[in-house]
Amino acid sequence: MSHPSDPNAPRFTVRGPAAPLVGDATVPGDKSIGHRAVLFSAIANGRARVTGLSGGEDNRRTIGAFAALGVPMTDDGPGALVVDGVGLDGLRAAAGAIDCGNSGTTMRLLAGLLAGQPFASKLDGDPYLVLRPMRRVAEPLRQMGGRVEGRPGEAIGKKAGEIYPPLDVGGLGAGVRLRGADLQSKVASAQVKSAVILAALGADGPTTVREPARSRDHTERMLLAMGAPLVIDPAADGLAVTVDPRGWDRRLAPKDFVVPGDLSSSAFLVGAALLVPGSRLVVRGVGVNPTRTGFLDAVRAMAGEGAITLENAREIGGEPVADIVVKHAPLRGITIAGELAVRAIDELPLLGALAAHAEGETHVSDAEELRVKESDRVAATVALIRALGGDADERPDGFVVRGRPGALRPGTVASHGDHRIAMAGAVCALAISGETTVLDVANVATSFPQFAPTLARLGAPLG
Ligand code: S3P
Repeated sequence: MSHPSDPNAPRFTVRGPAAPLVGDATVPGDKSIGHRAVLFSAIANGRARVTGLSGGEDNRRTIGAFAALGVPMTDDGPGALVVDGVGLDGLRAAAGAIDCGNSGTTMRLLAGLLAGQPFASKLDGDPYLVLRPMRRVAEPLRQMGGRVEGRPGEAIGKKAGEIYPPLDVGGLGAGVRLRGADLQSKVASAQVKSAVILAALGADGPTTVREPARSRDHTERMLLAMGAPLVIDPAADGLAVTVDPRGWDRRLAPKDFVVPGDLSSSAFLVGAALLVPGSRLVVRGVGVNPTRTGFLDAVRAMAGEGAITLENAREIGGEPVADIVVKHAPLRGITIAGELAVRAIDELPLLGALAAHAEGETHVSDAEELRVKESDRVAATVALIRALGGDADERPDGFVVRGRPGALRPGTVASHGDHRIAMAGAVCALAISGETTVLDVANVATSFPQFAPTLARLGAPLG
């Protein structure tokens, strides 16, 4: 896939090797939970105050979408938003296209919410998002009687049979209800699952969505807390969720959500501390929902149990939260496959970068989803490692890294406009002697705008 690239775009310069990173840090609010806190509050019946929002661009797109859909919202200090929920039937048509920016979660969750609305909406995105596949949400929503139309892959030289944004959704007219359905998702995707659950809230009968492996479950936790008619099938190991709106009063109780720190952002600080000799960091207040913590399990296997400990474990708003304490440790190669790959999906590029500094081979498989993230993260991760003199190869569903401590050298890394590739490149370079440049890093602002200042404050040679 080719990506637009601006030669004048902001870049990171890393002058390694870093001195020990020692101290305390916090990370922005969890992006996944932030989207959901805003969206679910917007369709609740009454006022909620959401705190701990990241300030990242992706979450801001979701906030902007609901402002456009007529939901009153007021900024209430840093990371805080008061949302006056309009109820499931209270949204109104936006004046123009809704710009989801770079945010796949915004677009896919909105598609689910809006596919069955009486009014039509158009969902658009930035040059990266409009090349991401949408059939995974269009198909189940159509099976429920929803309208989701996009650009056919054939028309834009992309995959035949696939559907790409902009999406035209909803516009069913007054009084038309979606049908409940029994749906099997081909991919383990919380975005697909959440889109179906949102559509199912407005359907005329029960809907079950089944997935091949358990994706993150924030939607289920949060909607259950708001009184949604949702059942997680205990017999199906959490792989099947049913929404049965029959007899439900169609009201969601507003909740003052407190968004915990983003595990996916904390991973870059944890990775930096693991790589840089003498480091010891505490990252405070991080969400450690077990459907998200594959990264911590993977780095424990690479670095030994003692390298990472969780302290001050607590629960905030139905989500487990802890402080992550991390110490430098030599790394060894591991195998990441199956449910571990799903639970670490957003951290696999970083794990690849760490693996290049490890002793021995790391194999990542069952991760074909990486190919359709903000960039083709299989190709981008392998290119990152090779650009720094490492040894890695693509596989159709992952990659292999042949690690050797001390083997990497400085170089120039392409981010492909992808925040997680940019941050993985910068972290990787902290343990290399010499100057590394990471190109085109503006998209770091989608999830972790304070990434560079946070690392710099801890003493990292990153500008
Ligand atoms: C997300 C789900 C995951 C993840 C993305 C956020 C979410 O995507 O990669 O960063 O908030 O639901 P998929 O649903 O495509 O797996």
